[in-house]
Amino acid sequence: MRTKSTKYAEFNNKIINHLILFLLLFISNIAAQCFAPNPQNPRELIPVACNLVKNEPQENLKFKDSTSNNSSSSNNMFDITLNCTVSTDLCSKVQKAFDTAGSIISSYLLLNTRIVLSASFESFCDLYSSCSENGILGFASPARWILMEDDDNIQRLYPQSLVKQFELSTHPEYSKNDIIASFNSDVSYWFAEDSTPINETQFDFLYVMLHELHHGLGFSSAWDEYFTGYVTPLLANDPIKEIDAEDDLVYNNTSYSSFKFYECAFDKYVILMENGQKASEITEKLNTYFTENNNANKKKNFEISFPTCLCCPIILA
Ligand SMILES: *[C@@H]1O[C@H](CO)[C@@H](O)[C@H](O)[C@H]1NC(C)=O
Ligand SMILES: *[C@@H]1O[C@H](CO)[C@@H](O)[C@H](O)[C@H]1NC(C)=O
Ligand SMILES: *[C@@H]1O[C@H](CO)[C@@H](O)[C@H](O)[C@H]1NC(C)=O
Ligand SMILES: *[C@@H]1O[C@H](CO)[C@@H](O)[C@H](O)[C@H]1NC(C)=O
Ligand SMILES: *[C@@H]1O[C@H](CO)[C@@H](O)[C@H](O)[C@H]1NC(C)=O
Ligand SMILES: *[C@@H]1O[C@H](CO)[C@@H](O)[C@H](O)[C@H]1NC(C)=O
Repeated sequence: MRTKSTKYAEFNNKIINHLILFLLLFISNIAAQCFAPNPQNPRELIPVACNLVKNEPQENLKFKDSTSNNSSSSNNMFDITLNCTVSTDLCSKVQKAFDTAGSIISSYLLLNTRIVLSASFESFCDLYSSCSENGILGFASPARWILMEDDDNIQRLYPQSLVKQFELSTHPEYSKNDIIASFNSDVSYWFAEDSTPINETQFDFLYVMLHELHHGLGFSSAWDEYFTGYVTPLLANDPIKEIDAEDDLVYNNTSYSSFKFYECAFDKYVILMENGQKASEITEKLNTYFTENNNANKKKNFEISFPTCLCCPIILA
């Protein structure tokens, strides 16, 4: 289980890096910018055009608690589309497990806006030529990350499913799906309605899926080994170019020379175990490299000078 668990966690991180990232700032209206993956380099993001949906004046970034009082709020808040390419019998078990997972998560998360999940149950051997016995069980990821300014004035990548719960009147165009998930039909899964008890060669589908769906909800970290031997947050272009005095949304789409490390929403709560230091403080120190070194190719220079350029505690992979 451990081997598989580690494997799908790694796979999941790769998926995250491939996803389109959006920018949205929240101290009055500032700028919106989107990122797409770079097919040549999965560790890099490139800016793309995106529309901002703007209706009313900006509100503060906070959860709108509109259903905590609703006894029905423990019902399934997930809209699930399942693409299942195996037998009808097995697909019906998979569908049932997804519905159960949706209800379970809805029972302990305070959700006011429905979450759209696009899931598939398919052969990873056929799809990714990943046919080994210790293959990947499955993965899930936010379909879109949106950059938002947190209450500590640090911009972090928020999963779309969470951003929707803020019920903002102005936000970047949402992706059709909030979460994308895929599970490997080659795996020997056990389902609740199976007539025999689970045995040592099987995996409890609901258990694996619940784990993965939490990654889909954005419970993951941007800290990873992007530079060999060092763990940092995700490095991406810094898209913020201009603030318009009239609270209009303006950005410069011609120049993306600058880089910045970005954390995910929940990295705000990550600390170093040995001294309690917030990981976000390290991120800020890392980012001073880019503000203090106005080089043409900053990312490359950073890669070259990484081990010596900073005296902050870098976590070793
Ligand atoms: C950037 O500007 C060009 C022309 O100035 C325009 O055609 C293009 O759509 C813009 N891109 C974005 C992301 O707005
Ligand atoms: C719950 O609903 C009642 C009326 O339906 C309202 O008076 C109360 O303030 C609500 N409580 C919360 C926490 O929203
Ligand atoms: C309570 O939740 C149900 C199911 O999600 C929804 O249909 C209904 O509109 C909600 N009621 C209120 C008052 O929010
Ligand atoms: C369902 O998945 C299969 C591959 O597993 C793919 O070929 C097909 O296009 C998918 N269908 C939809 C509707 O996404
Ligand atoms: C476990 O259960 C599956 C499904 O019923 C079966 O195919 C497999 O042979 C079983 N393995 C063992 C070791 O009992
Ligand atoms: C956009 O960026 C380019 C390159 O940095 C700069 O020359 C130009 O003045 C900027 N345009 C605006 C409107 O800020």
